[in-house]
Amino acid sequence: MKKTGRILIALFVTIMITSAFIIPDGTPLNDPPTNIPDSVWAIFEISCYDCHSNDGNGMAKAKLNFDKWNSYSPEKQLKKATNICQAMQDQKMPPSKYLKKNPDVAPSVAEVIRVCNWLGEIEK
Ligand code: HEC
Repeated sequence: MKKTGRILIALFVTIMITSAFIIPDGTPLNDPPTNIPDSVWAIFEISCYDCHSNDGNGMAKAKLNFDKWNSYSPEKQLKKATNICQAMQDQKMPPSKYLKKNPDVAPSVAEVIRVCNWLGEIEK
């Protein structure tokens, strides 16, 4: 075998092994929409994605579908982000019924603030 071939295989194996260790907690499982920062996406993925995605709840995904976020116009993204911050501040979302069954996905106050700060960034 040629030397470069062996180097490539060694490199590939190294990447496979290290990548198994460097995925920290909270790393998004699904690809985040391009303009939602990872730190905000991690919250949506854990607390909202079950319903607000292609595989989600019909009513929920018709109004807000993170799998379609990239195709929303900037105006629509701003409007949805405004609604998201509002719904989380008012504790309307995630729905309380859902939180009863999944208490561990309730966003913390710090997480709600992070989401609303993100809205502030988009509004600029
Ligand atoms: C158990 C399923 C479920 C989960 C989890 C959930 N939602 Fe919803 N959401 C819904 C449903 C159903 C609707 C539509 C009915 C309504 O407006 O009350 C909705 C509507 C919304 C709306 C209104 C959309 C619009 O523009 O009118 C926003 C914003 C929203 N959700 C944000 C969130 C956020 C943010 C999270 C996570 C923190 C979340 N939801 C988690 C079910 C869910």
